[in-house]
Amino acid sequence: MLISDYEQSKMSQGIRQLFLEIYPDDPSLAEKMNFNENRVRHICTKVAMINGKIVGQANVFSFKGRPDIANLGYHIHPDYRNQGIGEKLSKATIDKVKNTALSILLIRTELKNIGSIKLARKLGFTEPTNEFQKANEELISSDNIKEMICMVLDL
Ligand SMILES: CC(C)(COP(=O)(O)OP(=O)(O)OC[C@H]1O[C@@H](n2cnc3c(N)ncnc32)[C@H](O)[C@@H]1OP(=O)(O)O)[C@@H](O)C(=O)NCCC(=O)NCCS
Repeated sequence: MLISDYEQSKMSQGIRQLFLEIYPDDPSLAEKMNFNENRVRHICTKVAMINGKIVGQANVFSFKGRPDIANLGYHIHPDYRNQGIGEKLSKATIDKVKNTALSILLIRTELKNIGSIKLARKLGFTEPTNEFQKANEELISSDNIKEMICMVLDL
């Protein structure tokens, strides 16, 4: 497996394919994830490749008006899950953003997404303190996710 920095100009097709195969019911996601890496608030995206095929993507975007806090997202092709790819890819992405303006990473995921929660814990994410939750309520909630859990990692 090869982990490399995402470059839209070289990976557009592979990224679209990956997200279409992960989320076949929502093709708009494939377009959304085919973003330009110079886009505002984009900090880092890495991809995992096996035999030239993109099998996973992990991305970090800071929140609007908060250059110190960012969201980590990770997505692995269904055929390549439970092989440690999510963990390796996420670790490489976290390492890359350690020496930036960021001090905290968030993961927001559905309560029923056991795999995502287990991976977050393996990466060192923990449930935020009440104090953090109160101060960052608007970051923690998401309109798209109903029963959600938020976990944080100090960089
Ligand atoms: C969540 C996801 C990224 C995990 O990727 P992955 O490559 O399968 O994860 P890994 O193989 O690195 O596994 C990491 C740990 O999580 C565990 N795990 C992964 N999926 C699991 C599942 N469905 N149920 C229980 N445990 C799971 C693994 O066993 C491993 O723990 P262990 O080493 O103690 O056994 C992947 O399932 C995925 O892409 N899901 C769909 C997209 C998604 O929900 N992303 C999160 C949105 S916020």
